[in-house]
Amino acid sequence: MTEYQILAGQAEGLLETESWYVAAFSNISALVMSMLPNLNWAGFYLVRDGKLTVGPFQGKPACIHIAPGKGVCGTAMERNETVLVPDVHQFPGHIACDGASESEIVIPVHDGEAVRAVLDIDSPVKNRFTAEDREGLEALVRMIEEKVSWA
Ligand code: SME
Repeated sequence: MTEYQILAGQAEGLLETESWYVAAFSNISALVMSMLPNLNWAGFYLVRDGKLTVGPFQGKPACIHIAPGKGVCGTAMERNETVLVPDVHQFPGHIACDGASESEIVIPVHDGEAVRAVLDIDSPVKNRFTAEDREGLEALVRMIEEKVSWA
């Protein structure tokens, strides 16, 4: 089994125990942070009043609000697609919450058609995220979308 199959299996177990998004996203952040090597931040931003607000995460305190189209997270929200950034210093408008971050991946999380949150993962290593990471994390998010309860 790949690390992503193990991760998805454990996340599925957590969601089956408690599907409420606050509990699930808290433990999934901890799971991602503890299972995947070379990360300095992993967590969720939630769409509230049309903008992103920080939700459950692991890592240093982060910026609280991000407008649509701003930074990597706001770009993923606005484009409604995964944004993989091999070197954050080359991404115009990157928001440096933790100065240690060098690469980042952000995946939108949907409720039906609507983007309801984004999963944001940062690494202190450039080029940390490969096509395999993208595929594994997108599969994790598809599973979360099926099982999570937003209320
Ligand atoms: N770097 C992100 C901001 C969030 S922190 O990485 C936790 C961005 O540019 O959207």
